[in-house]
Amino acid sequence: MILPIFFIFFLTFSSSYAAVQDFCVADYTAPQGPAGYSCKNPANVTADDFVYSGLAVAGNTSNLNKVGINPAFAGQFPGLNGLGLSLVRADFEVGGVGPLHLHHGASELILVVQGTIIAGFIATDNTVYLKTLKQGDIMLLPQGLLHFQKNGGDTPALLFASFNSENPGVQLLENALFQSDLPTELISQTTSIDTAEIKKLKGLFGGTN
Ligand SMILES: *[C@@H]1O[C@H](CO)[C@@H](O)[C@H](O)[C@H]1NC(C)=O
Ligand SMILES: *[C@@H]1O[C@H](CO)[C@@H](O)[C@H](O)[C@H]1NC(C)=O
Repeated sequence: MILPIFFIFFLTFSSSYAAVQDFCVADYTAPQGPAGYSCKNPANVTADDFVYSGLAVAGNTSNLNKVGINPAFAGQFPGLNGLGLSLVRADFEVGGVGPLHLHHGASELILVVQGTIIAGFIATDNTVYLKTLKQGDIMLLPQGLLHFQKNGGDTPALLFASFNSENPGVQLLENALFQSDLPTELISQTTSIDTAEIKKLKGLFGGTN
């Protein structure tokens, strides 16, 4: 009867472990390590560490993309630290675009709260999965794949996006190419885009070389 004994041992061990590790609220006074923030002393943790009111307001939409991004990542919302999830508010003006980008190691689930959103992603075999979403629709954007969202209507649109990461990194395709100092000649040779177009886009995005 080795199995029941092991099971009882496991239960005892795991419940005492859980009691110590219920959460790891971010301690912003200590430096951030590769695995996230260190844990605030549990004696100093309050209900406020698990509540964030910052998403009540729209992010700033005065930018090229006409989109306001307002994140609730571990850096803004201390209770998320170590739990592997987060939420972002994205406000789209008419004509607003979330340009082609990807999140390394984080899938994204978007919920359209207001207006109409056109969203899509491109799989590694170059199949395009594209949809016009209305209020209440949710759409999944699998991890590591290029995707975008844009306002598909003539009124402002609002979506919330959740990630299975408390700090999803983002790489924007256009910024990587045209806001960087990768030489124009090399960009042309490695993308088939002509140099005049690259120079124009570097001017727009602020890239050099
Ligand atoms: C955390 O709580 C301890 C004990 O209540 C207190 O002495 C300490 O000052 C607190 N630390 C912070 C950063 O609030
Ligand atoms: C929004 O962003 C623009 C451009 O960066 C800036 O000029 C403006 O002050 C910002 N507005 C607010 C309310 O922060």
